[in-house]
Amino acid sequence: MNFCFWICCSLFIFQCLGTEERNFRVFIDQVNITHVDPDVYETFYCKVFQFNNRSYMDSGHIFKNTVSDLKVHAALDFWKVKSKQKMTLYDVRFDGCNFLENASKNRLFNVFGTSLKKHSNIKFKCPFQGNISYEVRNMTMDEQDFPSFVPLGKFRSLIEYIINQRLSARVIASGKIIPYSADQF
Ligand SMILES: *[C@@H]1O[C@H](CO)[C@@H](O)[C@H](O)[C@H]1NC(C)=O
Ligand SMILES: *[C@@H]1O[C@H](CO)[C@@H](O)[C@H](O)[C@H]1NC(C)=O
Ligand SMILES: *[C@@H]1O[C@H](CO)[C@@H](O)[C@H](O)[C@H]1NC(C)=O
Ligand SMILES: *[C@@H]1O[C@H](CO)[C@@H](O)[C@H](O)[C@H]1NC(C)=O
Ligand SMILES: *[C@@H]1O[C@H](CO)[C@@H](O)[C@H](O)[C@H]1NC(C)=O
Repeated sequence: MNFCFWICCSLFIFQCLGTEERNFRVFIDQVNITHVDPDVYETFYCKVFQFNNRSYMDSGHIFKNTVSDLKVHAALDFWKVKSKQKMTLYDVRFDGCNFLENASKNRLFNVFGTSLKKHSNIKFKCPFQGNISYEVRNMTMDEQDFPSFVPLGKFRSLIEYIINQRLSARVIASGKIIPYSADQF
């Protein structure tokens, strides 16, 4: 369960919208983590940095105790360029343990599973061990992993972690999909 990982998953849903834009970059402007339950987490952070016109993320968490009951509430709002209207692309609740175990069987999410594996120090799966640092370093979103048809605009991603039936952390990320042409250089 990586927090930035979920953001990546969220972004993948953009394929549903469809436009003609082919050259784009996904920028994460900000990630805020709130409602962190000190009984559950020893630490929990997510840092975003921009490098060569690309967003990279470092994130990590340590649980105080073993975690084997993890539910997720995820929602993604999107504003297309030149449109004031908000679109809620999804607003879902699901079992995080099930997702992590079964993501590799899903063609759509497998690409993120692979990316997560490449950038993490330890396998993300339930049960999560207490006192162990689960970290992801320098993870980015490779546009090649996205479908060609991604709309331009702004987005806001909400992810809530419900651990042992209690809200244990809320992650809010904002960013944008902007045009990007390699030809201009
Ligand atoms: C980043 O984008 C800016 C503006 O489009 C451009 O001037 C700059 O050369 C780009 N840098 C890299 C490393 O691609
Ligand atoms: C993964 O999916 C299988 C089949 O749908 C299910 O039986 C199993 O419980 C799931 N894994 C977890 C950890 O829930
Ligand atoms: C984690 O470390 C604390 C303090 O060292 C200890 O009290 C606790 O039992 C440990 N928890 C686990 C799951 O190892
Ligand atoms: C992050 O990845 C990029 C490209 O893969 C690389 O150029 C950069 O040096 C890496 N940064 C760190 C801090 O590892
Ligand atoms: C993050 O928190 C800062 C300070 O409270 C706020 O200004 C900003 O809008 C927040 N960003 C997001 C994406 O919620």
